[in-house]
Amino acid sequence: MTFLFNSDAKRGAIFAKAFSRELPDILFAMDPAAVDPEAVRYLITWTVPEDLSRYSNLEVLFSIGAGVDQFRIDAVPPHVHVVRMVEDGIIRMMQEYVTLAVLALHRNLPAYLEQQRGEKWQAIAPVQAAERRVGVLGLGMLGTAVLDRLMPFGFPLSGWSRSPHEIEGVRCLSGRNGLDALLGSTDILICLLPLTDETRGLLNAQLFARLPAGAALVHLGRGPQLDHQALLQALDSGHLSGAVIDVTDPEPLPPGHPFWGHPKILLTPHIASVTQPETAAKAVIENIKRHRSGLEPFGLVDRGRGY
Ligand code: NDP
Ligand code: OXD
Repeated sequence: MTFLFNSDAKRGAIFAKAFSRELPDILFAMDPAAVDPEAVRYLITWTVPEDLSRYSNLEVLFSIGAGVDQFRIDAVPPHVHVVRMVEDGIIRMMQEYVTLAVLALHRNLPAYLEQQRGEKWQAIAPVQAAERRVGVLGLGMLGTAVLDRLMPFGFPLSGWSRSPHEIEGVRCLSGRNGLDALLGSTDILICLLPLTDETRGLLNAQLFARLPAGAALVHLGRGPQLDHQALLQALDSGHLSGAVIDVTDPEPLPPGHPFWGHPKILLTPHIASVTQPETAAKAVIENIKRHRSGLEPFGLVDRGRGY
């Protein structure tokens, strides 16, 4: 029985060590050309290999990341479990990034960077945290974790999801009406939604118009959720005050794209959070043990919902 690791060798070496300790009866392999394809029961990868059908006894397809939109799930045989990455390292890094982004926007960092470039020494009237409403789109593994991390700052917090949720200290909303209510009362909007047919293009002109004047965006989901032109118009008209953008479409952003030099945009190259091999190996091993005991793995993707 083989576990095939299809990602970078540095992370693979850490996985290999953990597997030899915890699951010694499973052959850990990193070279697809050297495995017996019929022995491969588990595969971890970022994208689905073209020749997936050669692994005729595959039971679980693990994503090396939290998102699974890069998989063409329809091409994966229906009996194969598709599992996204649910691990502590990716959560912790996202908590750090969101804290950085929210505090940067809350404390006017883009404007102060612009002032510094112009050698301008001028205070901007501060807004207290209790007056800065933060709304999170997506109340999954990452959305709930970032809300938890933001709580001690004292921002009024809201979150939006597909199904109803309850989180202490957070106004939880769902469905279309819930989205309207959240947008109308959000000063910093954070997108942590998976990319699906329903969320593609969601961050568009109509959505920005429903935010209060002066609101800001933190986009961490996936590039195709954001209409770049609509964001630029909302920023340039002054309706939105700033944006922190970690994901774009395409990636990398082409040379000369207006996001690169925009004074109201802080841009990072899809690094908000990265799977950490030590904790990820632990999570995958636990999921294999669960699967072998007939239990559902953590992070099992619902093919109907697409996440
Ligand atoms: P989860 O699957 O745990 O959570 C997804 C959340 O989004 C759920 O709360 C779900 O609602 C909600 N949701 C999905 N579709 C809709 C919809 N149509 N309307 C309203 N709510 C919806 O995902 P994670 O938290 O693990 O990750 C979220 C995304 O973050 C990933 O898919 C990926 O795209 C992105 N990501 C980005 C990274 C980066 O570095 N920039 C790193 C890691 C992830 P419900 O609870 O009702 O199901
Ligand atoms: C992920 C990502 O989905 O890095 O894990 O975006």
